[in-house]
Amino acid sequence: MTVEEKIGQLLQLSADFFDDGKAVITGPMTQHKISLETVYNAGSVLGISGAKKVRRIQKDYLEHNRLKIPLLFMADIVHGYQTIFPIPLALGATFDSSTVKEVSKISALEASAGGIHVTFAPMVDLVRDPRWGRVMESAGEDPYLNSVMAEASVKGFQGDHLSLENVASCVKHFAAYGAPEAGREYNTVDISEWRFREQYLPAYTKAIESQALLVMTSFNVLFGVPATANRHLMRDILRQELKFKGVLISDWDAIGELVVHGVAGDLRHAADLALEAGVDIDMVSFAYAQYLIHSAKLNRKTEQLINEATLRILELKDKLGLFEDPYRGISEEREFAVLKLPENMTKAQHAAEKSMVLLKNQDNILPLNKHTKLAVIGPAANTGEILGSWSWQGNPDETEPYLSALLRHFEYVNYAKGSGYHNLDPEELKKAVEVSYRADVIVAFLGLPQSESGEATSISDLHLPIEQRKLVSKLAALNKPLIIVINTGRPLILTDLEKMATAILISWFPGSRGAEAVSNILDGTVSPSGKLPMTFPRSMGQIPIYYNSYITGRPISESSANDSNHYLSKYIDESNDPLYPFGFGLTYANLNLKSVSLDKNQIYRDDNLKIISKVENSSNRDGVAVVQCYVHQEIGDTVRPIKQLIEFHRVNVPANKTVTVTFNISTRKFVSIHADLRKKIDSGKYKIMVGLDSQDLTTRYLFVKN
Ligand code: BGC
Repeated sequence: MTVEEKIGQLLQLSADFFDDGKAVITGPMTQHKISLETVYNAGSVLGISGAKKVRRIQKDYLEHNRLKIPLLFMADIVHGYQTIFPIPLALGATFDSSTVKEVSKISALEASAGGIHVTFAPMVDLVRDPRWGRVMESAGEDPYLNSVMAEASVKGFQGDHLSLENVASCVKHFAAYGAPEAGREYNTVDISEWRFREQYLPAYTKAIESQALLVMTSFNVLFGVPATANRHLMRDILRQELKFKGVLISDWDAIGELVVHGVAGDLRHAADLALEAGVDIDMVSFAYAQYLIHSAKLNRKTEQLINEATLRILELKDKLGLFEDPYRGISEEREFAVLKLPENMTKAQHAAEKSMVLLKNQDNILPLNKHTKLAVIGPAANTGEILGSWSWQGNPDETEPYLSALLRHFEYVNYAKGSGYHNLDPEELKKAVEVSYRADVIVAFLGLPQSESGEATSISDLHLPIEQRKLVSKLAALNKPLIIVINTGRPLILTDLEKMATAILISWFPGSRGAEAVSNILDGTVSPSGKLPMTFPRSMGQIPIYYNSYITGRPISESSANDSNHYLSKYIDESNDPLYPFGFGLTYANLNLKSVSLDKNQIYRDDNLKIISKVENSSNRDGVAVVQCYVHQEIGDTVRPIKQLIEFHRVNVPANKTVTVTFNISTRKFVSIHADLRKKIDSGKYKIMVGLDSQDLTTRYLFVKN
């Protein structure tokens, strides 16, 4: 290969360089000053799919590429390709890794048939600030839950052997993209390396241990240097410490942004910095394509780095089988045979059912009898826009709205919109009140439109829009049971709403079959079983709020309300408690934790511990419990979180039965990062806490000995 050909492999193009199956350079693309020859040398492209289209582009490309090295097709397949599953945050709420694995497997099956080789997923960025719009793409605020879901997702996408029905998984965004200051998109991230290693690094590590073949850099700064130019992050941590051998790709134009960040003088400098940091593929900034050739002529080390990056990309193409069959067996027939299969649509529905979180159910108003006269109200009631962001191949026009499914499930349904997401028409409001007046129960579908979740959708006020709150006040004034179903890609502040609602169900953005899933929950065909993967705050000022905060020198006791001392870590105008804690979610069954015991009270550092818990179902309905086990180290080298999830089990608890749930805990779960940034298991006293959410816990003590 010539140096130019190698540099070509390092270039990722956007979809607009290919039109009608051929390479083109028109309109805004001319600004990059690259030739058609460069396009036919580029190693990869993003955002193109469809068997017919991909075949045509690959064929034309191979006819022009001197060495006949196939083009790699990448895309964001985040929660489904055409069968759309609930958004990743909702999948986090399932606390069910087998569901996540299956979702990724089906997504890979469909996407690979559509010609995609690599998906830019999963996003495993730990998130704690719901102002940030991309919390919808993560599994939430907990490092362990994130790690479990990261592993499941990578394994689901890639399968055991990366067959033609799999895609390679690109884990993103390395690193700590989920911690932008003030929740503002693309903003500075400034966390200590200690904290980074304690809480943010584990999920990326798990994804890499699960053999993810690619990693994407993040847009943000970390430890003072943008990730895309951060040698410590990429060389020392990612490559050396985590032993990542795969392809490192920049995020969209992130190499170009090094100039804007002010760490590179120009694009040529940016190209050198990114290459030195170990970035193999330049996603659409054209820095590599335009400038690396000059650096390579002057510097043998640059050529060496180009060789290493090229080799990694060619190895990826080889693993994907592109040298045997550059089309990976795609055809329109195969595509037709696998897209939106009824059984996979049913799985999307089951995933949605498992993900929805019931936050309130006063007087057991839910489930509803099928003969109940329903007033269905709200901006989210009659729209197919419930797929969520990053579902570019999903079709809202073909997606059933909640209203239409409810009409199948209930005998009397009357609908009035009442308000838009952000606007209120007095006539519509009046009609909604009239319709509600004639009903037994009001079901209001509220929330945020899907365009207000995902990338570049940071929000400074997480209350429901005022128009919808006005609608709720009017409906609540009718003094009828008011059930609120909320479409959201993030925690919202529901403090006022909670007082007016009889029941609250978080439906997230539930995907292709979300309407059927909600109806099944409302009519009791299915009992809700989702648990919050992120804390729901009481007020904006509490943000960021998360369950596993560190202990302070002046902690409050169980609840700030009980603490009369002024000089404590608390607010003077707000409780420290969230409105709904991490891990919380109601079911229709009556589930209780009956007992918790440890098989021993003292263990050695290389021992295992059994924690035996019993969960009782004292109702006539089957239920699902997510039994959660948390740990707290009493004395450590560094401060320790008040509690930290170390394992959970999602279990069926049949009606009127008690089930035993056993945790087999290895002391490796007690590892903490010391002040010298090393991982260690300390001897000493530990609290072991078990419960059905992160707040209501039964505590036992354990001594770990040397
Ligand atoms: C996002 C990435 C995504 C990429 C390609 C960027 O703006 O941050 O998550 O994979 O675009 O679509």
